[in-house]
Amino acid sequence: MLQALEPARDPAWILDQHGFDPLRDSSRESRFAISNGFLGMRGGRTIDRLPQSLVAPRTYVAGLFDALGPDLPIPALVPAPDWLKLDVSFSALKAPLTVSDVSFHHRALDFRRGALLTESRIARPREIAVRLRVLRLVSLQCRAIGLQLVHFDIEADGMEAMLVASFEGLEFGLVTQRLEQDLGVWRTNVSGKWLAMAVAATLRVDGLVVAPKPLGPFKWSWNWVTKPGQAVCFERIVAVTRADSAEEDAGATVRQRLETAISVGWRGLLEAHETSWDARWRACDVTIAGDPASQRALRFALYHLNGAADPGDPRVSIAARALTGADYNGHVFWDTEIFLLPFYTLTWPEAARALLTYRFRTLDGARAKATRMGWRGAMYAWESADTGAETCPEHGIGSDRRVLNILCGTQELHISADVAYAVWHYWLATGDVVFLRDAGAEILLETARFWASRAQSEADGLHHIRGVIGPDEYHETIDDNAFTNMMARWTIRRGLEVAALLRLQWPERWAALSAAIVLDDAELQRWAGVADTMATGLDPRTGLYEQFAGFFDLESIDLAQYAGRSVPMDVVLGRERTQKAQIIKQADVVALMVLLPEAFADGAAAANFSYYEPRCSHGSSLSAGLHGVAAARLGRVDTAMRFFRQAAATDLADTHAAIDGGVHIAALGGLWMMAVLGFAGLTMDESGLGLDPQLPDDWTTLAFPVQWRGRAVSVVVDAAQRTIQATLTDGEPMAITIRGERHPMTKQTPLSVRF
Ligand code: BGC
Repeated sequence: MLQALEPARDPAWILDQHGFDPLRDSSRESRFAISNGFLGMRGGRTIDRLPQSLVAPRTYVAGLFDALGPDLPIPALVPAPDWLKLDVSFSALKAPLTVSDVSFHHRALDFRRGALLTESRIARPREIAVRLRVLRLVSLQCRAIGLQLVHFDIEADGMEAMLVASFEGLEFGLVTQRLEQDLGVWRTNVSGKWLAMAVAATLRVDGLVVAPKPLGPFKWSWNWVTKPGQAVCFERIVAVTRADSAEEDAGATVRQRLETAISVGWRGLLEAHETSWDARWRACDVTIAGDPASQRALRFALYHLNGAADPGDPRVSIAARALTGADYNGHVFWDTEIFLLPFYTLTWPEAARALLTYRFRTLDGARAKATRMGWRGAMYAWESADTGAETCPEHGIGSDRRVLNILCGTQELHISADVAYAVWHYWLATGDVVFLRDAGAEILLETARFWASRAQSEADGLHHIRGVIGPDEYHETIDDNAFTNMMARWTIRRGLEVAALLRLQWPERWAALSAAIVLDDAELQRWAGVADTMATGLDPRTGLYEQFAGFFDLESIDLAQYAGRSVPMDVVLGRERTQKAQIIKQADVVALMVLLPEAFADGAAAANFSYYEPRCSHGSSLSAGLHGVAAARLGRVDTAMRFFRQAAATDLADTHAAIDGGVHIAALGGLWMMAVLGFAGLTMDESGLGLDPQLPDDWTTLAFPVQWRGRAVSVVVDAAQRTIQATLTDGEPMAITIRGERHPMTKQTPLSVRF
């Protein structure tokens, strides 16, 4: 067992931390979380930890949503019981060991193996020296399974020792249906979901199984007498199931999953888990030579990105904090489509497909929202949980601690274009005909229809979209947000394109779908008219897009004067003044530049970046990633690197306790985007993949794999040799565009192009 508990030695593959600091521990629990897209466990300590509470739970199960009470109708992820709790006590001591007894604590996240490894030493009183090494993982191969392995070294001789293993939080937020020694079944209060957990735990002393004493549901104790050099090994396997209706027998399923896992044994479970992680790393690892800090930040990002998705469950998507913390109640935002889908689409299409299928399954919710608001088509929820209904709260506490109205649920419309954008790019990158035909097309048509109804024709002959919030949420109820309008126009045009494609390629499907959603040629023509006359805010003289109507007239404030601030700009200036100023919360026109580069011809990208970047206060962790991509594509490598470091620090800087609510998964997606879409300059369109790299000074090489329409391609940008190598490692011949020139590629002929 000891070998399994050894963390990797290579610093590029681990994140580690020594000691215990109650002030920072909650943030560290987020950072050191383990997850497999179904089960998420925060990285709290094992025996000597702070108690789990309802407001700060440690265990998350994807999709286990419930309204938290009659006064809190907004659904939130309900915490599941924490299955990792252990207490150790010795006859010589009055109470079990606690946090103050620990003299050494080390935690190491092993990215390669997807495991958290901890070591603690307990030296109180002196005659008892305990060293505890622990591994915990949630299986990437079988997502229902979690594993905890513990190895004790105990110096004391002839001491009576007792280990108690239990679950914490059995009573949290759920209604107990069945509670047995090793199995529990709960249901949610309102949402009709079920959770079942089953567990098997074994203690071996010098290879011999010690008989457990049952102490009630999920609780056992083991007693033995210590001897120096004794090998004391504990293993606990947990199985977890979520069921979305009473018809599924969650208890029977979980029992069967546990039995299978027990028959495989911890070694088999560990091996299968490591094999699955290995496959993920082969499909997505980004290696950077010359900059160890960036390398580690990227690995940390990839570790969390790989742990956030579950390709097997299209009923869930990824929350703003993934499964690592309670912020945002487990709700899903545009973060998934714009900041995460590029990574999944290009390295893990199965996960991308599941995430987009979630949007297909919640299409009815989006249609209902559109109808309720008086529009047609599908208006996706700004915050989405399990059904697709809008779950954005109507009130909240602002950064200035004042209660405020939250208008995003009715005004932040761009989510409906962001979903369409991700669907189309998934189709471009994968050529997944079945998904497009059976699910994606309907999303594109219904979101196009929404935009065509939402844009109003006015006397100036243009279509306007009034009363919205763009990505820059500091400005509310604005008209003609360039990002929203341009993305709306783009969505309508993709709707028209997919209609033409279906008609041509799959006429039967077109006939059925157009009949089902009652879509005729006259309506399609109207859409085309709306797209062609959409107000864009583009000033052809300067190439600048006005972020929204009237933005250029707002007070101009020099953000450089506020460089040392430690709070967001809307707190510094107050909400009212911020709303009247050219202060942007996060990438808005700059986001548009990244998503629709073709809309920024002839130096317009540089002009817009130069105008908007100094006005952006980066009040959201999403901002740095898009700024970094835009800057890198413009060749402003130092600026891009500044954003890369800023995004890396969001979850890694240990200087303040800012991430107790979970890691910022979109910022982590942004790191991958900056490396691959920014510094390597990877683009994709109908003609295929393109590369136009621009590496930071320290990065001597940058290498990564991507998947393209059933093929695997590996890319190495070598700054010293000034070459770009692209190798088709799997699949049919293809062409790739490098710095504007197309090059054919076959498996036999790797490509090496000088730049
Ligand atoms: C940002 C949104 C984001 C949300 C969840 C907000 O602060 O402004 O753009 O979707 O957080 O990450």
